[in-house]
Amino acid sequence: MHSFGYRANALLTYALTILALMCTIASLSDNFNFPSPSAEIQVLNFNWFQKQPDGNDEVSFTMNITADLQSLFTWNTKQLFIFVAAEYETPQNSLNQVSLWDAIIPAKEHAKFWFQIANKYRFTDQGSNLRGKEFNLTLHWHVMPKTGKMLADKLVMSGFRLPEEYR
Ligand SMILES: *[C@@H]1O[C@H](CO)[C@@H](O)[C@H](O)[C@H]1NC(C)=O
Ligand SMILES: *[C@@H]1O[C@H](CO)[C@@H](O)[C@H](O)[C@H]1NC(C)=O
Repeated sequence: MHSFGYRANALLTYALTILALMCTIASLSDNFNFPSPSAEIQVLNFNWFQKQPDGNDEVSFTMNITADLQSLFTWNTKQLFIFVAAEYETPQNSLNQVSLWDAIIPAKEHAKFWFQIANKYRFTDQGSNLRGKEFNLTLHWHVMPKTGKMLADKLVMSGFRLPEEYR
């Protein structure tokens, strides 16, 4: 008598098919979410700007970060990983990216915020490339889904400039 085993197997296959289908629908329905995240970052103050003993320029500044990332959350979103980066050009590299701050946003309720913060990670460059350097501040996000693939995007804020002189 194979019939019990056979039926249990058929039932399991059926359940797995339904589960796979639900996962597909979950991640597909994410594609129909057109999020409209917004962010603004101001540089409030250059706290200091110095040449370090190792010869590298290093700067510390305070940012006012305002963001509304609530529309990135769907029922399939587990959490967001976000980071703010300074992006600038040097003669050696067309894109230098320095991560300044990051956070994990665990829920939609926490996805709308503003606060003032100094860069958490060091903003440093080799040589004296940074004096008077124009840079962009970008807010990057990675949307970690419960199922399906991770999405990543960013908002760019341009037109920042480092001081000409050390202070
Ligand atoms: C920081 O951003 C908030 C929200 O956008 C704004 O209300 C506040 O005035 C800003 N602070 C400064 C010092 O610019
Ligand atoms: C800064 O932003 C501007 C405008 O979006 C862009 O044209 C430029 O390439 C950016 N610079 C860097 C280094 O990414």
